[in-house]
Amino acid sequence: MCEERRGVLEAIASEIARCTRCPLHASRTRTVPGEGNPCARVMFVGEAPGFNEDLQGRPFVGAAGNLLNEMLKLAGLSREEVFITNVVKCRPPNNRDPAEEEVEACKPYLFRQLEAVGPEIVVCLGRHSARVFFESSGLKFESIMKVRGEPRRLVVAGRELLCLPTLHPAAALYNPRLRSLLEADFRLLARLLSRGQGLDRWFL
Ligand code: URA
Repeated sequence: MCEERRGVLEAIASEIARCTRCPLHASRTRTVPGEGNPCARVMFVGEAPGFNEDLQGRPFVGAAGNLLNEMLKLAGLSREEVFITNVVKCRPPNNRDPAEEEVEACKPYLFRQLEAVGPEIVVCLGRHSARVFFESSGLKFESIMKVRGEPRRLVVAGRELLCLPTLHPAAALYNPRLRSLLEADFRLLARLLSRGQGLDRWFL
């Protein structure tokens, strides 16, 4: 089953490598489709590749990635057992926010990855990711500070999942207060995972 999913993810990644759906293709060095376990219980969705990710073609490999790795450890997870991707698969110039049309152009790839992996939990890293998940399931999104740390059941791209919005690791890098919120959210993730498989158990 996982091999089949791996094949689907590879096919999506090769489409992304050739993608010209939005202007970001012109300035990218490499596409960053995402990586990880095709049968992951948890999918992490960031915003967009930064400088290092654009060079290496891998998500979260710079300073924010180091903090994400620490947080994964805190939750008892390794990079190998989760799937990590971004809303937008190409770096926006100067790390600016992704534009609405870039998010829209890239969203089908994200949703196909979601369908292929079928995670129980999606951790949205930051407001861009949380907004896509909230709005795609018909919820209004106001701010990441309002929704972070509260898991909620969403139906996104036809899939029922538990969405845990949290801060973007880059926001928490140099701010101890935000870092402790990020840590609290990853500890909560560990508790959710320890309750075992099956969405219904999280809501008893
Ligand atoms: N920030 C993101 O949102 N994604 C990455 O892959 C790296 C930094």
